[in-house]
Amino acid sequence: MLVVETVGKLQTFLAEARASGKSIGLVPTMGALHRGHASLVEQSVKDNDITVVSVFVNPTQFNDKGDLECYPRTLDADCRLLESLDADCVFAPSVEEVYPEPDTRVFEFPPLDKVMEGIYRPGHFNGVAQIVSKLFMYIEPTRAYFGEKDFQQLAIIREMVRQLDLNLEIVGCPIVRETDGLALSSRNALLTPRQRNVSLVISKVLFTSVDYSKSHSLADTKRMVEQAIDSTKGLKLEYYEIVDGATLQRVESWDETDYIMGCITVYCGKVRLIDNIRYK
Ligand code: PAJ
Repeated sequence: MLVVETVGKLQTFLAEARASGKSIGLVPTMGALHRGHASLVEQSVKDNDITVVSVFVNPTQFNDKGDLECYPRTLDADCRLLESLDADCVFAPSVEEVYPEPDTRVFEFPPLDKVMEGIYRPGHFNGVAQIVSKLFMYIEPTRAYFGEKDFQQLAIIREMVRQLDLNLEIVGCPIVRETDGLALSSRNALLTPRQRNVSLVISKVLFTSVDYSKSHSLADTKRMVEQAIDSTKGLKLEYYEIVDGATLQRVESWDETDYIMGCITVYCGKVRLIDNIRYK
């Protein structure tokens, strides 16, 4: 497995693959890799001749400086994991390599970026679009892999590909969870054992709400989830939204559309956790 830090070396490696007509899978990550990331890499290795994994903590998508500073960085361990998964290349650039000058591009994805994370993390999706569009330009992948854990991000990346008319396939991969239900996240490493225990309530109430939704209105289901989080000491609800899975806009009743998702963000202490569930 090749580990490169510069766009030049990355492109030299890829030129050979491209010349021989090989398909290229890209898995963009910010490192601190876990089984959730691994599932994306495994899918890419299955689908493509070459798999490139980027490991880059992208500063432009952090609207909270403290969050950026605390973000776990474990490149050596990440490379060991990626090697064992048969990835072909790790692209781990410096900030200067990716942003030799400030990226002033402004992306808009209405209405997808006007709700949920778009409200609570202003500028976040612009930063995501900046880095992911650069990765797509450097690598020109055949396919790129994103997790449904970041449901809104996946929808926005699909929209970016549509807007820019890029010739690649976006592959969405299911959420990987701990056996007790907690969605895997690099931020879980920041939880104390007590917080880790409390954070279980998030996935539990989402699962419970799917059964509950079969005999209750959408408004009642939303309220049930909100109350369960609000009444748990140590958790602070940022939002719970029940939305059309395609447009991410709020829906008012279960029969309004045939694709409905519940998207939640909860603070456990200072750690921001996100999760989602499909109702139909
Ligand atoms: P990061 O949080 O490292 O996640 C990288 C990819 O792994 C994302 O597509 C994310 O949805 C996926 N992922 C994370 N946890 C997962 C889980 N439990 N199950 C399935 N997939 C999971 O998302 C980012 O980085 C960045 O915004 C990035 C796209 C790399 C741009 O900087």
